[in-house]
Amino acid sequence: MTETPLPPLLLIGCGKMGGAMLAGWLERGLTEAVVVEPNPAAVAAFAGRVTVVPDPAGIPAGFRPAAVVLAIKPQEAAATLPAFARLAGPETVFLSIMAGRNVAGMRAALGGQAAVIRAMPNTPAAVRQGFTVAFPGPGVTTAQQDLADRLLSAIGEVAWVAEEGLIDPVTAVSGGGPAYVFLLAEVMEAAAVEQGLPPDLARRMARATVAGSGALLAASLEDSAQLRKNVTSPKGTTERALAVLMAPDALPALMSKAIQAATDRSRELAG
Ligand SMILES: NC(=O)c1ccc[n+]([C@@H]2O[C@H](COP(=O)([O-])OP(=O)(O)OC[C@H]3O[C@@H](n4cnc5c(N)ncnc54)[C@H](OP(=O)(O)O)[C@@H]3O)[C@@H](O)[C@H]2O)c1
Repeated sequence: MTETPLPPLLLIGCGKMGGAMLAGWLERGLTEAVVVEPNPAAVAAFAGRVTVVPDPAGIPAGFRPAAVVLAIKPQEAAATLPAFARLAGPETVFLSIMAGRNVAGMRAALGGQAAVIRAMPNTPAAVRQGFTVAFPGPGVTTAQQDLADRLLSAIGEVAWVAEEGLIDPVTAVSGGGPAYVFLLAEVMEAAAVEQGLPPDLARRMARATVAGSGALLAASLEDSAQLRKNVTSPKGTTERALAVLMAPDALPALMSKAIQAATDRSRELAG
């Protein structure tokens, strides 16, 4: 079955996340897009496939995007959004992936009436294995939500929440989550070196173990606790390690504190 082509899109900011999304959309039949991006190096990979302009003044007159995707840094929002207020109307949805910028603030900057969806993706988007959680603001139509779902599905899985406040713990868990997993690879590598393994072997083992376990988790129907038990023979070596990692003050408590700290920080940054 051929997918319906994507409608015209306007992408604001084509850095790591914006670039990953644009690559995903082009794979899915994007035919018309304008990208506002001041840094030529950021858009070099897309030369000839989309129209690139350095600022909003360069957007071709008469260009009517079905979606405006906001992928700039949160601190750029206040200065940048008002230039796009003229596009707010029933035919255009604004889809933001900016951390911490809430729907009310974005609507105010866009003139008060814009249909705004707030989404939080994560960096595995770069290999189309991201996870995005999105919240539809007031006035977003079902068709606009469906379009946002298609756009976000181009970089991985998508889930929706009906309460904007849940985006704070989402930011803490899946937004920052890749960093915690990369930390796991780092500390496993360091611990392997401590045990006398050569550094290059330690690095390969840690990377392959984290990546392979992620692939197994993705491919398996069993939940993560069962996959853990499958590796843990009674009275064996893994059981001994897990007794350390799962002690009352160890990894479960630390992860809980870490997620709480990140959730609190997300609430502090909100606006
Ligand atoms: N990275 C993550 O893990 C992650 C996860 C979830 C959500 N996010 C959100 O995604 C957004 C983008 O993050 P990122 O990591 O992709 O950042 P990034 O790589 O710095 O990308 C932002 C891009 O926007 C450009 N830009 C700056 N001002 C602009 C303007 N006024 N108009 C148009 N483009 C402009 C920047 O150009 P210059 O380089 O010249 O400034 C840069 O190329 C952020 O809001 C972040 O909160 C990121």
